[in-house]
Amino acid sequence: MLEVNNLNTCYDFLHVLWDVSLVINEGEYVCLIGPNGAGKSTVLKSIAGLIEIKSGEIFFKGISIGDKKGDQICRMGISLVSEEMNLFTGMTVMENLSMGAYTIRGKKKKEALMNFVFELFPRLAERRIQLAGTLSGGERKMLAIGRSLMSDPSLLLVDEPSLGLAPRVVDTVFQALEVLNKKGVTIFLVEQNVTKTLQVVDRGYVLERGKIVLEGSRVELSRNEHIRKIYLGV
Ligand SMILES: Nc1ncnc2c1ncn2[C@@H]1O[C@H](COP(=O)(O)OP(=O)(O)O)[C@@H](O)[C@H]1O
Ligand SMILES: [Mg+2]
Repeated sequence: MLEVNNLNTCYDFLHVLWDVSLVINEGEYVCLIGPNGAGKSTVLKSIAGLIEIKSGEIFFKGISIGDKKGDQICRMGISLVSEEMNLFTGMTVMENLSMGAYTIRGKKKKEALMNFVFELFPRLAERRIQLAGTLSGGERKMLAIGRSLMSDPSLLLVDEPSLGLAPRVVDTVFQALEVLNKKGVTIFLVEQNVTKTLQVVDRGYVLERGKIVLEGSRVELSRNEHIRKIYLGV
C-alpha cells in the first residue's frame, strides 16, 4: 500500500533522513519508534506531503506521491494526526470535524463520517457544540484523530498520540486506533510509549539518527536485545 524507497529529507542544511526505506501493507498496523530528534515526525510529514523531500520515492497504491502536495495526498486517502494537532480553538467540535472533511463531497457522506467519529469517541458527541479551545488534553487528542478521520483515510499516520496524556486517556486513544485498524484502516504509528505500542502493532521499524536501524514483527522487536535495553528498560 505504501512504499518508501531511499527517502532523504533536509531542513535547509540539516540532513535529517538518510535513505529511509519501508513498506506498509494494506490493513497492517505498523509502528515507527526511536529517540527524540531521530526524525520520526519528519518521516510522517514527508509521506503526508507537508515537507519537500530531497530524494527518494514514495508510492501509495502504486502511484508516486513524492512530489505531490499535502491536499492531493489527503484526497488519495492518507491522513496525518500531527503531534501539534493544529485544532481551530475558536471553533466547536463539530466545526473542527467539518473542516477535516474538506476533501469530501456530499452532505450524506460527511454526516456518516461524523457519526462514525462520534461512535468511536462518545466524549466528542457529548461535547459537539463546545469550543475546541476549552476541551481537555485527551478530548483534544480525540478531536484531532476524529478530524483526520473525516477525510475517510485508508492510511492513517499518527504522531505520538500518547504524549502528555493521562494513562486512562492513553488507553482510550489506543483502543480507538485498534477499532479503526479492525475496521480496515491501515495505521502507521509513531510512539514513545514502546511498551504499549509493542502490545498492539503487527510490525515495526526503529529509526535512529535518521536511519532505519532495525525492523521486525512485534514478537521479534519485543525480544530484541537493543529494544529491550534502550526502549523497554529491561
Ligand atoms: N521545521 C524544522 N526546521 C528545522 N529543523 C527541524 C524542523 N523540524 C525538525 N527539525 C529537526 O529535525 C530533526 C528530526 O526532528 P523530528 O522529525 O521532529 O524528530 P522526532 O519526531 O523523531 O523527535 C531534529 O534534529 C529537529 O531539530
Ligand atoms: Mg516527533
